[in-house]
Amino acid sequence: MLPTVNALRYVVPLKEGGSLPGVMEADDCGTWVVKYRGAGQGVKVLVAEIIVAGIARAIGVRVPELKLIEMPEQIAKYEADEEVQDLLNASVGLNLAMDFLPGAFNYDGSTPPPPQDAAAILWLDAYVANIDRTPHNPNLLRWGKQLWAIDHGAGLYFHHTWPSRTPDPNRFAAQRFDDSGHILRPVAGSVSTVHQAARDAVTPELLAGIVADVPDEWLEPTDDLPNATAIRAMYVDHLVERLERPDAWLPEDGR
Ligand SMILES: Nc1ncnc2c1ncn2[C@@H]1O[C@H](COP(=O)(O)OP(=O)(O)OP(=O)(O)O)[C@@H](O)[C@H]1O
Ligand SMILES: [Mg+2]
Repeated sequence: MLPTVNALRYVVPLKEGGSLPGVMEADDCGTWVVKYRGAGQGVKVLVAEIIVAGIARAIGVRVPELKLIEMPEQIAKYEADEEVQDLLNASVGLNLAMDFLPGAFNYDGSTPPPPQDAAAILWLDAYVANIDRTPHNPNLLRWGKQLWAIDHGAGLYFHHTWPSRTPDPNRFAAQRFDDSGHILRPVAGSVSTVHQAARDAVTPELLAGIVADVPDEWLEPTDDLPNATAIRAMYVDHLVERLERPDAWLPEDGR
């Protein structure tokens, strides 16, 4: 599991975020962006954040460090904004913490990353089927002269169907990816080169280690997946299967 810190003080909401993530100070002296378990999007987006960030790291895409953060009841006590107060109250307990990158600004395309860095991010998004990286909503931060990928909650959307449909790794493996609106498509280099390296890096063992980072209580059992062990194995099966079938989803090589 990821290490856990304790929230001490609520600092400010990040208003650009639809889920209204908050900045908090914690007992490790760190400042963290907190993504709430009680936000409208549900706990599965936090599961996707952890798994996709783990894959990103394995292929060399920069993502802020993740931890879990325990939020006490009294954190909402001095918060005047009612919407934030509701969110905090609904999220007492374990939430996701992402290292706050001070002074980072949203990527606007004016200083593109090297073609191979762009290709790695495009590959990542195609692999996990994350369509949430467009000029309108880049979900990329420029910080320390480098590009950092954030906000991966829209990836691995297949898990949202698990309560109603029997999980099917083949279905996900064959799912196409429309890269036409991807913010880095115009500047991306060879995606097939990234894929070759990723096939060596993203092993079943690596994936099992990444899904082990997800807390048990965020893995929601269904009729088909009665416990955390079964759910973790199903994530690994989906990702292993898709890695084998790039013909279905791998974007064409760019420059
Ligand atoms: N680690 C970070 N360091 C600094 N700023 C951040 C960090 N994470 C997020 N932000 C800022 O907060 C904004 C919202 O974050 P994020 O996109 O993760 O939230 P969200 O609620 O999932 O967003 P969306 O509206 O795309 O659903 C970002 O666009 C960025 O400006
Ligand atoms: Mg976002």
